[in-house]
Amino acid sequence: EPTKLWGGRFASGPAEAMAALSLSTHFDWRLAPYDIAGSRAHARVLHQAGLLTSEELDAMLAGLDTLAADVESGAFTPVIDDEDVHTALERGLLERVGADLGGKLRAGRSRNDQVATLFRMWLRDANRRVAAGVLDVVDALVAQAAAHPDAVLPGRTHLQHAQPVLLGHHLLAHCQALLRDVSRIRDWDARTAYSPYGSGALAGSSLSLDPQAIAAELGFRGATDNSIDGTAARDFAAEAAFCLAMLGVNLSRIAEEVIIWNTAEFGYITLDDAWATGSSIMPQKKNPDVAELARGKSGRLIGNLSGLLSTLKALPLAYNRDLQEDKEPVIDSVEQLDLLLPAMSGMLGTLTFHTERMAELAPAGFTLATDIAEWLVRQGVPFRVAHEASGECVRTAEARGVGLDELTDEELAAAHPALTPQVREVLTVAGSIESRDSHGGTAPSRVDEQRKQVVAAVDEH
Ligand code: ARG
Repeated sequence: EPTKLWGGRFASGPAEAMAALSLSTHFDWRLAPYDIAGSRAHARVLHQAGLLTSEELDAMLAGLDTLAADVESGAFTPVIDDEDVHTALERGLLERVGADLGGKLRAGRSRNDQVATLFRMWLRDANRRVAAGVLDVVDALVAQAAAHPDAVLPGRTHLQHAQPVLLGHHLLAHCQALLRDVSRIRDWDARTAYSPYGSGALAGSSLSLDPQAIAAELGFRGATDNSIDGTAARDFAAEAAFCLAMLGVNLSRIAEEVIIWNTAEFGYITLDDAWATGSSIMPQKKNPDVAELARGKSGRLIGNLSGLLSTLKALPLAYNRDLQEDKEPVIDSVEQLDLLLPAMSGMLGTLTFHTERMAELAPAGFTLATDIAEWLVRQGVPFRVAHEASGECVRTAEARGVGLDELTDEELAAAHPALTPQVREVLTVAGSIESRDSHGGTAPSRVDEQRKQVVAAVDEH
């Protein structure tokens, strides 16, 4: 006779297809250790409320300890008749402490408040792990920035050459986004740190149980303030899915650059053999699969978020079985990032940068045109006029097939009378970069300052 958490009012068991549809142990078994932790806390409040004697409490806790050990070792696993993790663990408890005692634990709780609590616990732990993985990616980028303090490349807008920047500046830009991903997870955790345990099915309990005691024992800041909300709300899951999708998108933007930088046309980087793959037909190939999987998985993470939001939209209060669909997408997002993050830090940390190639391209495409205009502004020329004059220099240089630094004195003067040969002092990549020393700018002193701040932020987390 299978263990069921319900059945008194049913004359027959579920149809096979009904049971198959209902089954969730293939994904909610992950919640088992949290379910047992919840049961320990619940047993204590039942004892406090006078519903378990001290002897019963001790026997219950001992039974839960054995069960936890058997779950951990794999000696106890769900069987096909166990509808979900909660049912399986009730069976396990009954087998260990007997039906008379084991049957007392379910008083005052429901799978609705249990699952809402356990999923929060699982997700809080998972997101702590994800955040640590993100910080490893930041570490890898910071190490590359530190290893190449003088490397330059053409900064781009519209993917066109725009202004030269330091490689470190560019890499640290990605770090800023990733650090926001980490702090977003932190902020999410502060909102998620409330326990619905004790909300019961939706209305609370008549048994004088103490939800705050359970919340404290399970590592929450407190209990949720409304039992209907506690059992029905899943914005914590959707927000987690957003945090993970946003992280995926930020990783994908890094990945896209790695893919471009790795082309023969760019030639900025070489991937380490350990973080690349070959082709089954083309012997010469060395492909950036880590980056491509990052880019691909970001689409999947976005899908997980939008799928979950679609599930939640228009659900009436309180619990509906639709809510069982909250787990797989979010678990998937976490597990994809568990795979992706170490590979991203491995790939990024072992990139070889071809700094000569990058330096050669840094001034190409007239990336110093803004420097001419800003030099003229410093001579008192209005920017609107300076912009025109610099544009004329570009036109002349382009027509003659030379760089801006190769324009003759006459050509410069023809563009604007104030354009004396002294302008050539800013017509170098190093001079241009050095001059952009505003807060957050690309000057080496600013980039160095920013790198230290990023290192400090990583240490703080
Ligand atoms: N497995 C369900 C979930 O993940 C919890 C069980 C609630 N079932 C119920 N019939 N109320 O949401």
